[in-house]
Amino acid sequence: MLNDSHRGQQARPDVDDAYLLPRTASEQDRLEFQHYTLYRLLGTHFLAPVERPRVILDVGTGTGIWAKEAARRWREAAVLTIDSNLTLLRRLPPNCQVMRASLLEGLPVDDGVSDYTHQRFLAEAIPLGAWDQVLKELRRVTAIAGWIEFVELSDRCLNPGPQTLLVQHWLRRLFLCQGIRLSLVLELPERLMKLGLMPQVREIVVPLWGPHIGKLCCCDVLQALRHLLPVLVDHLGLTSQEITQVLSELPTEWECYRTSWLCMAIWTQVL
Ligand SMILES: C[S@@+](CC[C@H](N)C(=O)[O-])C[C@H]1O[C@@H](n2cnc3c(N)ncnc32)[C@H](O)[C@@H]1O
Repeated sequence: MLNDSHRGQQARPDVDDAYLLPRTASEQDRLEFQHYTLYRLLGTHFLAPVERPRVILDVGTGTGIWAKEAARRWREAAVLTIDSNLTLLRRLPPNCQVMRASLLEGLPVDDGVSDYTHQRFLAEAIPLGAWDQVLKELRRVTAIAGWIEFVELSDRCLNPGPQTLLVQHWLRRLFLCQGIRLSLVLELPERLMKLGLMPQVREIVVPLWGPHIGKLCCCDVLQALRHLLPVLVDHLGLTSQEITQVLSELPTEWECYRTSWLCMAIWTQVL
């Protein structure tokens, strides 16, 4: 399954990437919290109608929490997890394999290997100019009749108040420093269609207000923003006091405006 140029790559150093979130224990916890929160929102971890995959590929696996879920759901499948940096990765079930590689440099697997290729919350590490190549690469590694699935954060908020607009502005500037534009996620279906694929789309409205799921989503997004604080200071020259002040006002503003954040789930079969 691994192609020759990448055999033995475990020994290579971590790949430097455009990823801005920290690789800390607190971020590991947040990613796993986010995984279960998303389940509460979607009612499933798997959107594509995959039946009996032999090989599953999880690109940008992070802690490996989704891969672990997939490995338990399809015990006969081999689950290949790929990340450019393995710091966040936790222990995985025996039917998982770990590979260190950057999606931006090409995946270390043969053509058509994967029956189910999954990418979640990786758009914030893909520069604008790399997307065409990334989509071609995901299609290359996916088998005919296999599925590619994305769950990605957009930069769009519904009912934003003034502090939310300010934070969105900061985030756009921050990501642009890395050549990343999160609004591209909204164009993904069109880009996939240009490759001859027929994507199915589910807009995920992530409520940042209200009880239950609103509270969980609010905690997750706030924690992600807290984790971005040092890079906001470094890249945009903001002070940590002003960021902390704005973040502290967000929960009340989100309740008041009934703000939600838009994520996109997109899945498509390779034909
Ligand atoms: C936000 S985490 C998402 C983790 C996981 N997909 C999830 O949903 O819980 C993004 C992960 O992508 C990895 N990453 C960033 N740039 C990458 C690249 N170019 N190739 C592969 N992985 C990358 C990061 O190291 C990080 O572990």
